[in-house]
Formats: sequence, structure tokens, C-alpha cells
Amino acid sequence: MNTDWRERVRQLKRERNAVILAHNYQTADIQEVADYVGDSLGLSYRAQAADADVILFCGVHFMAETAKIVNPRKTVILPDASAGCSLADSCPADELKKYLAAHPGKYVVSYINCSAGVKALSDVICTSGNAVNIVNRAPADRDLLFLPDQNLGEWVTQKTGRRMELWRGNCHVHVEFTHAGIQKIRDQYPAAPVVAHPECTRAVRLLADEVCSTEKMIDYCRRSPSAAFIIVTESGMLHRLRREVPGKTFIAGPTARCACNDCRYMKLNTLEKMAAALATLTPRVELPDDLIVSAAAPIQRMLDWSR
Ligand code: 13P
Ligand code: SF4
Repeated sequence: MNTDWRERVRQLKRERNAVILAHNYQTADIQEVADYVGDSLGLSYRAQAADADVILFCGVHFMAETAKIVNPRKTVILPDASAGCSLADSCPADELKKYLAAHPGKYVVSYINCSAGVKALSDVICTSGNAVNIVNRAPADRDLLFLPDQNLGEWVTQKTGRRMELWRGNCHVHVEFTHAGIQKIRDQYPAAPVVAHPECTRAVRLLADEVCSTEKMIDYCRRSPSAAFIIVTESGMLHRLRREVPGKTFIAGPTARCACNDCRYMKLNTLEKMAAALATLTPRVELPDDLIVSAAAPIQRMLDWSR
């Protein structure tokens, strides 16, 4: 018998009194069954406001962890505990701790793509949607360390004029886009604006008409008079755009080494794993209370500064 996983997830969601939050990079079938689909910033607000008993977070581990930190009384589950993030992995908390001990006095601005341990060592968190605003609000008399994404940090420096020391991390998906590849597709579709995520390299961002977070891509494409766009980010975004901005054409920016722009971690999630997570309430995000308290402070600062 073929199981209708979509229906099974909906049924278990009702039984568990759960809410399903999904990132823009999830597959179409997951986006269709979610209660809310958005970027890291929108998802953080939704997680904090959630009043269901259970949050099923379809994204990657640091996102589910953030949901637990901002709403610790809820049971937070995820479809696959091994859905990590190459960017978050590039900055282990013990390495950062050693670095800060050797370089005291830094004001640490951490991109939300980092572990709870790194958040706990940070002064303020940011997402791609608010990084410029957050860095503009950082104390003017302090030396800034921005981590873990070097490309996002460079873009923020360009936009704010604020000098920052940059951690040398990057995302395995966004560094696959190259200047030559994007130039080629731009030549093929000269009327289509290039919309790129700030995690792309500077060489790619140079060719972009708009650089923004995944959520802001929706707004940009909706408002623009153009009929077609070249989207330079993870593949899940194309579904969200096609659904929310009907009647326009979205062309995936090509990647260099393979024909795919999938995040290998985001794509570990499936409807079947969502059903299993709801049925067993595992894998579950569990964090020590003191870590929740220390990681919550810089996240809350970000949420307050972004309202
Ligand atoms: P957004 O917050 O723009 O959705 O980005 C999250 C992410 O992981 C990008 O790779
Ligand atoms: Fe991390 Fe990149 Fe995947 Fe985003 S797309 S979750 S930054 S590995």
C-alpha cells in the first residue's frame, strides 16, 4: 500500500498539536505541508510566537536549535538530526573561545548559521535579512568580529562602511556559483535581473542586480516590472518564488561543478521523516538550561533591534 505521507503528516500534526515551520530551501512537498515557510529571521519570530505544544522544524540543525532557545518550553523536533550546515561547522565554539581569549575586547556579531555554543559567546546575532541593520547598530567604539560567513561579512562591510574582522567560513552551496557561470546565463537572458544571496562570493555579487535574503527575494521579484529573474541561491527558493509570484519566470543560476544547487543538509528532510518525527517526538532538540540562557540574550538583542 502506498502511504500518502502528506496526509499522514497533517494527521499527526493535529494529534500532536504541532506547528510546522519550514525554511525556503525545503523541497516543494515540505513547503506545501508547512504552516509557515520563510527565511531565518521570519522563522525565528514564528518560533518564538508559536503556541502549539510541538514545533516541527524543517530546515537545518542550527535553525531548530534557535527555535528551542527562543521558545524553550516547547518540544522542538526535526526530521533528521544530521541536517547540519557547512557554514556553522566552520566555526566550532571551542575554537572561537580560544580566539576570543587571545584577542580580548571584540564585539562579536554572529550570523545565525552557527551553533548554540557560538551564539552563547556572541554579543548579537544577525541573519542575511537584517545583517546591515544590526552592524549599523553595533557600538561604534568597539572592534567587530563577524562570523562565520566571510562573504556575507564582506557584503555587510561594503554596505555599512564598517571595518570588521571576518571569520573565514563559507557555505558549500553558495561558493559553487562562479562569475563566469553567472555572466554566461546573464548573456543568455539579458532582460532578467540577477538576484543573489549575500553568501555568494564577491565576484558573483558584482553581477547581481539585487543581493538580499531569501525572503526579500519574494518582495523584490513581486515589485519588479521584469518578467523573468535569474535566482542565485539554493534550489528550494525557486518553488517558493513560483508559488508566491505566479506568472513570472525564475531561472536557476548555474553552479560550476554539478548541475545542482541543492543544500545537501536541507535536502535530507523528507515527508516520511517528518511523519516519523511527529510519531515518536524524536529527534528532539535538548539543550542545557544555562546554554539556553546565554544563547538567548544575543538572539533577543537581534529580534529587538529588527522590529
Ligand atoms: P536566509 O535567512 O536568507 O533564508 O538564509 C539562510 C541560509 O541558510 C542561507 O544559506
Ligand atoms: Fe548552511 Fe549553506 Fe545549507 Fe544554508 S545553504 S544551511 S548556509 S550549508
